[in-house]
Amino acid sequence: MEKKLEELQQEALEKIGNTNEVDELEKLQVEFLGKNGKVTGVLRSMGNLPPEKRPVIGKFANKVKNKIEKELQTRLQELKVQQEKARLAQEAIDITLPGKKISRGRLHPMQLIINQLEDLFLRMGFAIETGPDVETDYYNFEALNIPQNHPARDMQDTFYVEGDLLLRTHTSPVQIRTMEKQAPPIRIITVGKCYRVDELDATHSPVFHQLEGLVIDHGISFSHLKGVLIAVTREIFGEERDVRFRPSYFPFTEPSAEVDVSCFKCQGEGCSLCSRTGWLEILGAGMVNPRVLEMSGIDAEKYTGFAFGMGLDRMAMYKYQIEDIRHLWDNDLRFLKQF
Ligand code: DAH
Repeated sequence: MEKKLEELQQEALEKIGNTNEVDELEKLQVEFLGKNGKVTGVLRSMGNLPPEKRPVIGKFANKVKNKIEKELQTRLQELKVQQEKARLAQEAIDITLPGKKISRGRLHPMQLIINQLEDLFLRMGFAIETGPDVETDYYNFEALNIPQNHPARDMQDTFYVEGDLLLRTHTSPVQIRTMEKQAPPIRIITVGKCYRVDELDATHSPVFHQLEGLVIDHGISFSHLKGVLIAVTREIFGEERDVRFRPSYFPFTEPSAEVDVSCFKCQGEGCSLCSRTGWLEILGAGMVNPRVLEMSGIDAEKYTGFAFGMGLDRMAMYKYQIEDIRHLWDNDLRFLKQF
């Protein structure tokens, strides 16, 4: 029996030494020391021995058991250390390698202009309104005093969606939406996309951006309009800019004006940017037509107001001297990185 135990010990130690897996070790533990394990089996058969032999063999068997147990533990520790080392080796980071370059995004030139203008108008006490890109005929035309068959509809070639719906041709419908839901005093701007059937070329795009303003209160006059527009042009194009108002026509304003800013490139001398005129056209404006006020439920006897609408793509082109509107929307990083 002693011999048998010695053989088992020998076998166990060999197997333990050859194992490289933690779960293999667990299997060996069961194989030798488990309830039905080999060593346990020998111990159990001790009952067959003559009584005087039992303590001796019992002692020896325990020694064998402890020895195997100890070897299992030692090997387990070794394997754990090995595994940890392998894991660390695999995860090792070479901190001397050059880092990955993180390229930072930046704001689009259109967004830069929008931010700058919104900031200015907020400082002047304006609120920012929004309206839908898909409009109804009523808000885009009718309520702005552009009835069916009015020749002014031809000024804005329209994308029709279906029935009464269309893509707004300007941001002016937001004026109407604001007047319908809010009583004067009103002092708002809105910024957004507008759509017109236009061939895409260096100066035209079927999708473009406008900033629209509306002020309505007691005693609002044309000089208030002038003051605001002068502040806007100086903010965007610099303090030395002059502003010029030319009489014009819009159905929703009376009187109406188109506003030019003195060319910042040639200081008004005349150059290619301003087509030798010394002036750059930037917006349309006027005193809100009393008919428009009345249609939106505002008493035109009590209130007056002014409104304006500017093309932001054109503003961006002037300000950053971009000669082709398509550059703005080509998503060419070489272009966008300049801002
Ligand atoms: N809606 C006009 C356009 O797109 C621009 C405009 C002119 C807006 C005069 C106004 C305004 O608010 O008063 O051409």
